[in-house]
Amino acid sequence: MVSGVIKLDKNNINKFNFWQDHSISYLEMAYRTDKIERVDSPDGYGKRTGQCGDTIEMFLTVSGDQIMSASFDMDGCLNTVACANTVVSMIEGKKIAQAWELTAADVIDYLGTLPSQDRHCAELAVGALYLALSDIRETKKSPWKKLYKKH
Ligand code: FES
Repeated sequence: MVSGVIKLDKNNINKFNFWQDHSISYLEMAYRTDKIERVDSPDGYGKRTGQCGDTIEMFLTVSGDQIMSASFDMDGCLNTVACANTVVSMIEGKKIAQAWELTAADVIDYLGTLPSQDRHCAELAVGALYLALSDIRETKKSPWKKLYKKH
């Protein structure tokens, strides 16, 4: 099910030269929708709300120590979408240990044109990832808990 809520405001979509101001990587990640998906019983779930009020929920499915799929749902701005999409595209198929190494700076570097005042969007996305990775660790310790998780 696709259910992301994207807030558009004058700081992003209405800017006259918005398209010229952004990198291809940013535009691709800001408008990609195929990874906005809720998963009922993920191996790892993380939800984080920033001080700005934006929220990202991260859903991870693993096999052994490999992340087989990653998706998210969110309520926030276009920059938040770009950051969340970047996180899931960078960790899918990777080892769990590699995903722990992803930082907000990596996300910002990849996007190239994330506005400096919105760098906290990258921190929010990576924060949701870390919570989902912690949840995987908890699920591995107590696998029965997964039966009671529903998101
Ligand atoms: Fe706060 Fe995007 S504006 S996370």
